[in-house]
Amino acid sequence: MRTAITEMFGIEHPIIQGGMHYVGFAEMAAAVSNAGGLGIITGLTQKTASDLANEIARCRDMTDKPIGVNLTFLPTVSSPDYPGYVKAIIEGGIKTVETAGRNPQQVLPALQEAGVSVIHKCTSIRHALKAQDIGCDAVSIDGFECGGHPGEDDIPNMILLPRAADELEIPFVASGGQADGRSLVASLAMGAEGINMGTRFIATKEAPVHDNVKQALLESTELDTRLVMRPLRNTERVLKNAAVDRVLEKERTLGDAIQFEDIISDVAGVYPKIMVDGDMDAGAWSCGMVAGLIHDIPTCQELIDRIMAEAEAIIDERLSHIVRCSTSEKTLRQIH
Ligand SMILES: Cc1cc2nc3c(=O)[nH]c(=O)nc-3n(C[C@H](O)[C@H](O)[C@H](O)COP(=O)(O)O)c2cc1C
Repeated sequence: MRTAITEMFGIEHPIIQGGMHYVGFAEMAAAVSNAGGLGIITGLTQKTASDLANEIARCRDMTDKPIGVNLTFLPTVSSPDYPGYVKAIIEGGIKTVETAGRNPQQVLPALQEAGVSVIHKCTSIRHALKAQDIGCDAVSIDGFECGGHPGEDDIPNMILLPRAADELEIPFVASGGQADGRSLVASLAMGAEGINMGTRFIATKEAPVHDNVKQALLESTELDTRLVMRPLRNTERVLKNAAVDRVLEKERTLGDAIQFEDIISDVAGVYPKIMVDGDMDAGAWSCGMVAGLIHDIPTCQELIDRIMAEAEAIIDERLSHIVRCSTSEKTLRQIH
């Protein structure tokens, strides 16, 4: 399948693995890229720019396919060394960067002068248009159902994607709620040039996370995510657990007076305890509603091959059959 996104990023299939804190290590990115998608290393999971340079080099030892790096601009306690990360990305020969969070303008000139394409992840059409205006090469449209930060507008992809198709000139991919061939075909039908998946890639053999995390995804349904930090306008979709119950209780009792410090122990610095140690109640961790569509732990190759085969079968068989039947019924009606 060739789309504007496979051409732009030099990949075989229009499937991207979005940046994921404490998941997007070299092993994850290499497995996705080796399977023909675009694997992405999460920049800020690497504590320093030189750690990121080492992680890129490690990933290069595992794949000769294109890989990307995610740079997230979120409110953090201390400001990361973005110029250092950009230097590591360019010197590491990376050709695709996924930016997310605040406006990525500060990193665009350096990246694009070095021949790096930038795909910015947005949760609203106005942010997508802004990304287009400042010169991003593509955008990833992250619907309300997504794991992580869905923004504050609460618009699901069924609306966001056709809106993006109507408004944007640059290519976009659908992000949030994507799991299988049905997701891919639906997204293509709504104007996207591919899909970006987060949560689904965590439940794969190669995802470098504790087995408890994968099991938690298998046991969860679409009803098991919650939104935290909405009163702080930093909404995050997470999997329900004891820490999330504590955060929601504080949000209820403190109301508008809540400060980040009131919940910090349950939302900051918790990823190593969850992803590495497998302590599933240690804090709030991002997870999409798509958990309801995850029922197995395939390899990335099996997952991507299955998505592509299913998508092609839906287009060639189910959709073509519906169109063929409707056309012949119409012809019969005209004859009689
Ligand atoms: C555990 C986890 C961690 C994530 N961390 C980040 C991150 O650090 N930066 C970022 O831009 N997006 C992050 N995301 C969002 C994903 O890149 C992607 O946009 C999202 O998962 C898509 O929705 P889905 O989970 O329904 O596929 C994270 C998602 C998950 C599930």
